[in-house]
Amino acid sequence: MKFSGSHILTVDQFTREDIDTVFAVADQMRPYAERRRITRVLEGAILGNMFFEPSTRTRVSFGCAFNLLGGEVRETTEVRASAIAKGESFYDTARVLSGYSDIIVMRHQIEGSVAEFADASRKPVINGGDGANEHPSQALLDLYTIRSEMESKGKPIDNLRIALIGDLRYGRAVHSLCKLLGLFDNLYMTLISPSELALPEEYTDALRAQGHTVRISDNLHNGIQGADILYCTRTQEERFPTPEEANRYRGLFRLNQAIYTEHCEPNTVIMHPLPRDSRTEASELDNDLNDNPNLAIFRQTDNGLLIRMALFALILDVVDRVHDSARDVGWYTGPPGQLL
Ligand code: NCD
Repeated sequence: MKFSGSHILTVDQFTREDIDTVFAVADQMRPYAERRRITRVLEGAILGNMFFEPSTRTRVSFGCAFNLLGGEVRETTEVRASAIAKGESFYDTARVLSGYSDIIVMRHQIEGSVAEFADASRKPVINGGDGANEHPSQALLDLYTIRSEMESKGKPIDNLRIALIGDLRYGRAVHSLCKLLGLFDNLYMTLISPSELALPEEYTDALRAQGHTVRISDNLHNGIQGADILYCTRTQEERFPTPEEANRYRGLFRLNQAIYTEHCEPNTVIMHPLPRDSRTEASELDNDLNDNPNLAIFRQTDNGLLIRMALFALILDVVDRVHDSARDVGWYTGPPGQLL
């Protein structure tokens, strides 16, 4: 794909080669993300960071990624704080805000809303999550994490055994990740969920058509056996018709250290897009796993910076200039090797 000036709306845009391009640029971002070097390559540029749905890490890491490249961030975080609450259309909002920014990241609860917004935008738009549909930057950072976790175990992404656990119906991170994984070869996917929250058929059909094995299970203990990667998810309560309905599924699949020790191979990697629901009635990923070295959840969040910096650098076409005029940081950044 042509990155320069492009919107990023769906992972369907990416080939394996494009993924390699993003990952190679992400690797180059490490000294800046680790606060060892400073670059000002996006000095003067403005990111419109528009989050009309709750977000912590996606919003903040997109903002920090832009700052780390030297740009400024303008944030809108609620529908009621924007003119959309006064009945303004996506078209008008996009026309206006794209006059104020060089690039926009948008999250909204309506599927397809970010694409509609991008159609009217005069500047590139990145989908930060549109309803239950897609979350491309999350899938890229998840895949980048899978690659780096497996690299240290001497395995490529091809042939991996991956278990996806939880709300696979409404989880947009899982939807985008499945599409990206589909581009690799010979995966063994186990989809563990209550049948009502199963991965939509379009994704399972596509995976099977690409030659992957897809096994469907509603049993956590059996489903996780033999997996290289466990990818847990939260019940997406905001997408259910009523809170009571979401409550029926909360806490059905809880992974903790005892279950991990009994049913998983010793080096199985544990992932979660976060936030994990840590309330006692949910607790899909127990705190007793926090010291497990295979818990990759905070490596995922750190990798989010690298991926989002790479997307900005590629879309705004500055990859070759990131290192120009870069310098060392002058403040205390913690003991060496502690970040990322
Ligand atoms: C995910 C999302 O918003 O889709 N979170 C995230 O961006 N890291 C997953 C979730 O909210 O459960």
